Amino acid sequence: MQDFITKAIPTGVYVITVRKGDTINGMTAAWVTQVSFKPPLLAVAIAPPRYTYKLIKESGYFCINTIPQDAMDIAKHFGFKSGKKTDKFKGYSYTNALKGSPVLDKASAYIECELQSTCETGDHTLFIGSIVDHAMLQENAEPLIFKWSDFFGKKG
Ligand SMILES: Cc1cc2nc3c(=O)[nH]c(=O)nc-3n(C[C@H](O)[C@H](O)[C@H](O)COP(=O)(O)O)c2cc1C
Repeated sequence: MQDFITKAIPTGVYVITVRKGDTINGMTAAWVTQVSFKPPLLAVAIAPPRYTYKLIKESGYFCINTIPQDAMDIAKHFGFKSGKKTDKFKGYSYTNALKGSPVLDKASAYIECELQSTCETGDHTLFIGSIVDHAMLQENAEPLIFKWSDFFGKKG
């Protein structure tokens, strides 16, 4: 079913970053979408066990980093281990968005959001945010499109 949904409703691949004081973290997410036009609001579905979930709840901000087609290694790096025990930014250069969320140097664009509301839905929670900072970093880069089999094998 997952493989089918991913093909039927294509999405990009993103690294959702967050800062709480001196603590920074990032995790890969495919379930990212715009959910309001006026005002522009963006939603990210994050499962409660993620370290990123806890840090966004505590900080009230998150940042969507768009991963370009040639950077699948970054999506894998941030998507298969938790920042609870590892500093996933070790070896990855970044700058800070307006409210301090990390922006990966290799991201093609970023949008930093202020958390407006949350909505529990199944085994994930939607974090809905308004835009506080944004920039295009690589105008001509093609975004990485999420293919289930690229990350999780044939079954899904
Ligand atoms: C391609 C890909 C897409 C993912 N999409 C999501 C997602 O949309 N929501 C989510 O909660 N986890 C998603 N994950 C899983 C998290 O990235 C993964 O559990 C990560 O290790 C969590 O890190 P953290 O504990 O440091 O927050 C995805 C993983 C991959 C590889």
